[in-house]
Amino acid sequence: MVRCKRKWLTLCILFAVLAYKLVKQSRPGSGSPVYNQVKQTERSLTTSTGDAKEKPDNAAAAYASNNPSQEIPMMCANLIKGDGIIHEEIVNKTINRLTSTLVADRGFATLTKNCTRFVNERGYGRKPVTKEEEDFPLAFGILMYTSAHQVEQLLRTIYRPHNIYCIHVDRKSPAVLHRAMESISGCFDNVFISSRLEKVIYASVSQIHAEMNCQRDVLKRNKKWKYFIYLPGQEFPLKTNLEIVKILKELRGQNDINIVMEVPTERLIYRHTFVNGLIRRTSIRKTEICPLKTIKKGTVHTSLSREFVEFLHNSDIAKRFLMWLNDTKSPEEQFFNSLAYLDEAPGGPGPVKLERPFNALSRITAWYNHSTPCHGQYVRNVCVYSWRDLSWLVTQPHLFANKFNVKFDSLVLECLEEIINYRTFHPTALNISMYQQFVKDRSWKPSGGALRWQLP
Ligand SMILES: *[C@@H]1O[C@H](CO)[C@@H](O)[C@H](O)[C@H]1NC(C)=O
Ligand SMILES: *[C@@H]1O[C@H](CO)[C@@H](O)[C@H](O)[C@H]1NC(C)=O
Ligand SMILES: *[C@@H]1O[C@H](CO)[C@@H](O)[C@H](O)[C@H]1NC(C)=O
Ligand SMILES: *[C@@H]1O[C@H](CO)[C@@H](O)[C@H](O)[C@H]1NC(C)=O
Ligand SMILES: *[C@@H]1O[C@H](CO)[C@@H](O)[C@H](O)[C@H]1NC(C)=O
Repeated sequence: MVRCKRKWLTLCILFAVLAYKLVKQSRPGSGSPVYNQVKQTERSLTTSTGDAKEKPDNAAAAYASNNPSQEIPMMCANLIKGDGIIHEEIVNKTINRLTSTLVADRGFATLTKNCTRFVNERGYGRKPVTKEEEDFPLAFGILMYTSAHQVEQLLRTIYRPHNIYCIHVDRKSPAVLHRAMESISGCFDNVFISSRLEKVIYASVSQIHAEMNCQRDVLKRNKKWKYFIYLPGQEFPLKTNLEIVKILKELRGQNDINIVMEVPTERLIYRHTFVNGLIRRTSIRKTEICPLKTIKKGTVHTSLSREFVEFLHNSDIAKRFLMWLNDTKSPEEQFFNSLAYLDEAPGGPGPVKLERPFNALSRITAWYNHSTPCHGQYVRNVCVYSWRDLSWLVTQPHLFANKFNVKFDSLVLECLEEIINYRTFHPTALNISMYQQFVKDRSWKPSGGALRWQLP
């Protein structure tokens, strides 16, 4: 394990990223200590691929002299430190270069022709997996409508062979995107396209249907996963798989949901219809009696225990509530959160019963009117992060951040991927007592202003 002091951050990240890139690029063997260390890790994880036969060279030196992208780790380190001199022109150039190398959706059919190569070159399956992680498999429901490139970057960062990944591609999305995701998932046993695809209409019940389609599939395909993580394709992890496991274990079987405020009643008392793929409120009042006594509003960003997901699919009350919600607005913010309050719902008791707003740890979102900074741009009141948000993002305790757009800023994603990969190979201790404290009362208690989070 490598421990890095803050002042060594730059070097450490550079070192780690070089090591990681070497793995990613499957360079032939070499005498460099970095490379040997990586090879050792690899050997203990993967079956031999016959690399030993390839001719030796100094991979690290070759990499450093041939690959212009070594500037990126340096740049990321500076951006995270926030106190280095940042030359915006150089950053802009890097972003432009990264943007010019984005893979178009149609490119994935070719890239995945040889799955062995695709899987090796893009760093899947070469990451260390601990016993603790293997004993705590996760199920992901990735909901997407655009950019195979961005979702593939997300997938390769969270991918582990023992987890399971369902991808729901919006039925409205172009055929070329569907084909791209099919060809990517075709390279894995544990990544698949949802067996049923919805036309997802913003703020409508179709979003719940899409998520539940994935839940149904992962329940059927895998008997072991412990938590279901809902993950839009525009989010990105802030934690490694091991860290996510350690954090979710602190929930001790409870759901990670939040409650933010009272539900705006107009969402619920009027019928809604769909016009040109948009949800519209009518002036007709709903007359059916709601099967739940209380409706709570949270956000859709949840991590749900397996028992609770089974309850969602098997209980009569969940079915009736879903039916009742079908002509309301943004029901995805009510469905999971309200059901979690029921006495008979697994995933409690505990803080879920708190009679006040409370937080979840699955997601950080920089909402327009909150005191969170945003150096990117707001889309529907939510910040789309830029590289200027990096130093803030890496200090957040949450599992994932919402949201990113690789076409708007590819550097922030590139840097986060580097950091997560670094910590995957060189785990640092989590401040688990912070999470234990959080689980007790479901609120973050930042000490002295900003929430500090340990850096690699
Ligand atoms: C860098 O790019 C941003 C966004 O396109 C632009 O606003 C800014 O002026 C650029 N800065 C320089 C120094 O080129
Ligand atoms: C696929 O790629 C691997 C590794 O790059 C190579 O060894 C193998 O021969 C390729 N398979 C085919 C069918 O081209
Ligand atoms: C909602 O469900 C009711 C009862 O099954 C049905 O009559 C209605 O058409 C559904 N509305 C929508 C918008 O799907
Ligand atoms: C955000 O704050 C502005 C200014 O304080 C206010 O006018 C606006 O209504 C708020 N928007 C939301 C969505 O709360
Ligand atoms: C860990 O978190 C706890 C609770 O939030 C805090 O009191 C403590 O100072 C933190 N420890 C470290 C080493 O950051």
